[in-house]
Amino acid sequence: MRSTLSLSAWLMAGVMAMYGSSALAEDAVKTTAPFNPPAEETMPSGPMGEAIRYGHQLTTQTQVYAKKYVGNDLNCSSCHLDGGRTPNAAPWVGIWGVFPEYRTRNAEVNSLQDRVNDCFQRSMNGKPLPEDSKEMKGILAYMWWLSKDVPTGVDVEGRGFKRIKAERAPNPVLGKAIYAEKCAVCHGADGQGMKGPEGQYMFPPLWGAKSFNIGAGMARLNTAAAFVKANMPLGQGGSLTDQEAYDVAAFFTQQPRPDYARKHKDWPKGDKPKDARY
Ligand code: HEC
Ligand code: HEC
Repeated sequence: MRSTLSLSAWLMAGVMAMYGSSALAEDAVKTTAPFNPPAEETMPSGPMGEAIRYGHQLTTQTQVYAKKYVGNDLNCSSCHLDGGRTPNAAPWVGIWGVFPEYRTRNAEVNSLQDRVNDCFQRSMNGKPLPEDSKEMKGILAYMWWLSKDVPTGVDVEGRGFKRIKAERAPNPVLGKAIYAEKCAVCHGADGQGMKGPEGQYMFPPLWGAKSFNIGAGMARLNTAAAFVKANMPLGQGGSLTDQEAYDVAAFFTQQPRPDYARKHKDWPKGDKPKDARY
């Protein structure tokens, strides 16, 4: 389950309480829009177009364009596949209109800037972007453009990850064997990923000092299993059973990875999910 509740859903609940109308209630639950990212050629020209393109570069070549804010070997698009244009890989299509959003992890209403910086600090094991930096403005411009055809307050189909269920307790020993057979060819036998001959990004690490830290969403079993099921092995998403996705996720999420210094501040209201690593 998503541990978030959008501001719009809250407002809707308030409106429904006021009117008590079942017709309105039915309309209110139909809150998804089709997944339709805008075509590349529709990117505007001029200063807005430049900011959008820069945001695309920042998120797909984060190692190059935002190096000083990144503490590992990942790009944003290592997880948000195709620069946030893949459903069920936490896409950014429609993201503009669903923030601000209340999140239980910090028990606050989070802006889209806060959410971007959360991934910088956890998934990228790095530092937050200054809110008024050109990098933040570029990322926001890109997300705004990706979202331009989605109404405000509406989730796209394929937002986040499609949750799956394990039939029995996930088994990391079986997961290790699945990893060796189906993942190691790209991510390396030791999980450290692989770089090209000039040190350039090729396959991202799944654990170790150069991977996401324990505070990242991907370090959580349910999230990692859902991502893997839909998207891995790359190009063969859906080929693992739900149980295999859980077993392999139980293996790699528990491998050593960087700590997250501010972890004690998470879930201040005490509703920590069971699959958190701390
Ligand atoms: C290691 C994988 C990983 C990397 C790298 C990563 N993220 Fe994320 N990101 C996640 C996960 C997991 C979520 C939570 C999605 C969920 O549970 O619905 C998320 C959520 C988000 C969201 C909110 C999505 C939503 O639907 O609410 C935004 C925005 C975002 N990330 C931006 C970024 C940016 C910008 C970068 C690069 C600076 C980045 N992420 C790097 C894994 C990653
Ligand atoms: C054909 C090569 C290939 C195979 C096989 C493969 N992956 Fe990936 N994986 C990738 C690439 C490439 C990315 C990053 C996508 C990008 O940069 O566009 C990725 C990203 C990931 C990520 C998010 C980024 C990170 O470093 O944490 C996870 C988790 C992941 N893969 C898990 C797996 C698992 C588990 C398997 C085996 C079931 C697997 N992958 C098999 C190529 C592969």
